[in-house]
Amino acid sequence: MPEKSKIKNNKSIYILGIESSCDDTAAAVLKDGKVISNKVANQAIHEQYGGVVPELASRAHQQNIVPVVDLALQEAGIHLSDLSAIAFTKGPGLLGSLLVGASFAKSMSLALDIPLIGIHHMKAHVLAHFIEDDKMNLPEFPFLALTISGGHTQIVQVNNHFDFKILGETLDDAVGEAFDKSAKIMGLPYPGGPLIDQYAQNGNPKAFKFTKPKVQGLNFSFSGLKTAILYFLQKQTKANPDFIQENLADLSASIQYTIVNILMDKLKLAVAQTGINRIAIAGGVSANSGIRKALREAQKQMDWVVFIPKFEYTTDNAAMVAIVGYLKFLKGLYDDYDLIPKARLSLEKTTKND
Ligand code: KG4
Ligand code: ZN
Repeated sequence: MPEKSKIKNNKSIYILGIESSCDDTAAAVLKDGKVISNKVANQAIHEQYGGVVPELASRAHQQNIVPVVDLALQEAGIHLSDLSAIAFTKGPGLLGSLLVGASFAKSMSLALDIPLIGIHHMKAHVLAHFIEDDKMNLPEFPFLALTISGGHTQIVQVNNHFDFKILGETLDDAVGEAFDKSAKIMGLPYPGGPLIDQYAQNGNPKAFKFTKPKVQGLNFSFSGLKTAILYFLQKQTKANPDFIQENLADLSASIQYTIVNILMDKLKLAVAQTGINRIAIAGGVSANSGIRKALREAQKQMDWVVFIPKFEYTTDNAAMVAIVGYLKFLKGLYDDYDLIPKARLSLEKTTKND
């Protein structure tokens, strides 16, 4: 393990971030907290299977990781010897995929004798708000984070960079799954979330009414919605086989409207319960135009201070991993080589390094 204080006076801090938790292989370089390169290799192979196939994802990461890291370093215009530390996603995610990034990061850290820093994927989504590109309005602590991705739906109170408290979470499907599974029922390819968003632009959000689940407190449930959509479409297509084709825009808009309302209802409750009116969204679904619009309206009408990530930092990327790496590097929170990635990992502190 490299010895601690690696911060050299008057020298810029370069962090290489590596993300490989699901189906995107990503690498980014940050110089003193600012992104100087951010590269992602997407895996189109999963489209034909209607979802991510873990075994294929791991193999594609193996193929992509060296070229993606090379590209990120090239674009940053730096040499390996300039790097101050390597940050990588330690979980949660697909274990085989995580292992590719972890093994690569460990080898590089060992070869260069620089610190290795394991990063929680969802913390990275939340702390992406602290990437200091050109914006000066970073969220003030404490704030509420709505983490919405393919694997997560949580409302989290963020007290500082390293202190996260889960206030509520989904009891079944994640919101990204609700989008993707609804899209699959309508015959759309994976991932269907962005497609529903796209079709929704030309549809009437009130054309079809889907009931919202009744879940106590700040928890969520999305599996009932998926079933309701399935039964509704089975009934309609029996009467008219072209029903989905003819109503794709209205269906997409109505599904999106229902999901966004579920999220907004819980956020309002969280604000009322905590008295915190600073809201940040994080994760792939924060790219959704419906939730972005609803939050901007809430900002105007309800005196909320809303933080919406830049588009390139919403879906999986390595800049978000590198920013947490930078924040941990400044505190000397390095990891040992026996760190093993985990498919499931709490957002709350589980080790002294979290
Ligand atoms: O954070 P992310 O890239 O990967 C995970 O960590 O899960 O999130 C991926 C999820 C997928 O479910 C995808 O359909 C959804 O984000 N997504 C969207 C949009 N863009 C991505 N869902 C709705 N509208 C979008 N525009
Ligand atoms: Zn993600």
